[in-house]
Amino acid sequence: MKPVEIREKYISFFESKGHKQIPSAPVVPENDPSVLFNTAGMQPLVPYLMGQPHPYGTRLCDYQKCMRTNDLDEVGDVTHHTFFEMLGNWSLGDYFKKESITWSFELLTKVLEIPVERLAVTVFRGNDIVAADDESADVWRSLGIPEKRIKYLGEDDNWWPNMELTGPCGPDTEIFYFRSEDAIPEEFNPEDDRWVEIWNNVFMQYNHNEDGTFSELPKKNVDTGMGLERITAVLEGVTDNYASSIWTDVIAKIEEISGLPYKGNEKAMRIIADHIRSAVFVSADPAGIKPSNTDQGYILRRLIRRAIRYAKKLNIDINSNWEEEIAITIMDKYEKYYKEIEENRNVVLEVLRNEKVKFNRTLEKGLKEFEKIASKIENGKMDKDNAFRLYDTFGFPIELTVELGAEMGIEVDEEGFKEKFKAHQELSRAGAKDKFKGGLAATGDVETQYHTATHLLNAALKVVVNKDVHQKGSNITAERMRFDFSCDHKLTDEEKQKVEALVNEWIDAGYEVTRTEMSKDEAIKSGAECMFIERYPDVVTVYKIADVSAELCGGPHVENTSKIPHIKIKKEEAVSAGVRRIKAVFVQ
Ligand code: SER
Repeated sequence: MKPVEIREKYISFFESKGHKQIPSAPVVPENDPSVLFNTAGMQPLVPYLMGQPHPYGTRLCDYQKCMRTNDLDEVGDVTHHTFFEMLGNWSLGDYFKKESITWSFELLTKVLEIPVERLAVTVFRGNDIVAADDESADVWRSLGIPEKRIKYLGEDDNWWPNMELTGPCGPDTEIFYFRSEDAIPEEFNPEDDRWVEIWNNVFMQYNHNEDGTFSELPKKNVDTGMGLERITAVLEGVTDNYASSIWTDVIAKIEEISGLPYKGNEKAMRIIADHIRSAVFVSADPAGIKPSNTDQGYILRRLIRRAIRYAKKLNIDINSNWEEEIAITIMDKYEKYYKEIEENRNVVLEVLRNEKVKFNRTLEKGLKEFEKIASKIENGKMDKDNAFRLYDTFGFPIELTVELGAEMGIEVDEEGFKEKFKAHQELSRAGAKDKFKGGLAATGDVETQYHTATHLLNAALKVVVNKDVHQKGSNITAERMRFDFSCDHKLTDEEKQKVEALVNEWIDAGYEVTRTEMSKDEAIKSGAECMFIERYPDVVTVYKIADVSAELCGGPHVENTSKIPHIKIKKEEAVSAGVRRIKAVFVQ
């Protein structure tokens, strides 16, 4: 079954069960600086899982763009992808285990026609927080899953996301499919990798607090996720995800460009296919990410550079427009589903081309240098100075050096490199390890204060600089806020001082911050500010601060501006043509 049909069947099935389809959020989270990318369908829904009412109601479904980059270097085998689509359905304090499990079973066996004999499940064994999940096991039994196909597992397997990350979480039940032509064993063994997980139903009823404790969420939610790449491969009967119809045209294109068959060149072709697809989605994202040495830009750079290196391995002429042809094949397929792809085709091609040219300039020299260094190594170890030189002079991401080293049995001092990198470049805070792990950090108090402060800053810029100033992006951490806005000139010192003073005046005024739901049309008519109107549902949330600001926004915000410390503008700089960036911090 083709992905187009699977998406359609999934959504209409859940619509028939009273769910509303919500649009996919961008792959770069808009208001969550704790992660670089959305790593799961539920990520944009965190405020609603935490208790805020969702404008679409209590039953939602979607297909969401996701990126997981923690095992980027594993891409090349039959299952790993960086970018992927996740089919999801949610109950926000509405139905719970019985309906969720029953509907998953019905969709899999009736709509997607998977034979019950091929299914098995795991449920949570229990811990100090919650008892063993007999309720889910009972539902599975009642649906006809035999006892031997139901396994109880612990926190490592059946608690999502895990016991470390903060934010909404809970026990889950996972559904497995026997993906092999071998005879199906009567008893399910979760360790046997012929059984592949296809769907995860999380019963999100807890919040893992910053202090390490777990508390009950205001409502019991359900969050389910099924990877489209995996289920497509299953339904098309292939064991290599890249042999499914999601990839066949892309792989065929790479075969055509390289003049080589997929067979025997699988690893390189999978890496090129995956990395170019991810690069397409990241560079088409409204966040306007460009290859750089920090945050999402660094991931984008790594993806493109790694794809180039593997294209070279296939003897593709790097100077031809190979990357463009592959990207076009990908964009042709996805633009129907994701508007930003349609709108940003040229941006994507330009990003790929520019990065290729940049990397190409030094790649040959860098590879020669690498070989020179390698030939002198006697103890099988590359020191941090050489690794740093490859980065600094030849633009080799450390991961590339590590990978090249591994191919030659050389271990690279990665930790040493990182220290040196930090010392030299003051490695941006955001580049720190945690953000590459992916996960869900709850929005803390300071971030909430900064969030409201960005609304005030946006409003102050309109008063002081120009009423046509509009937000182009924002990024908040517990240490600072960053705010991008449209403006045709560098702010004068006087403008900066006035903006700062006005924001602080509004903070002192102790204005109430109110949250109202209204129709999108009403919100637009009322003049409420918003960044991407088409991405909002028909009913929207507007945050209003007295008469000074009204913005469409998901929150969270402080209740009163007096809860915010004074701000200080630390920097004002250009981001791109017509877009400026302000960095500001709180002063106590
Ligand atoms: N959040 C869960 C997952 O990503 C279920 O959607 O697996």
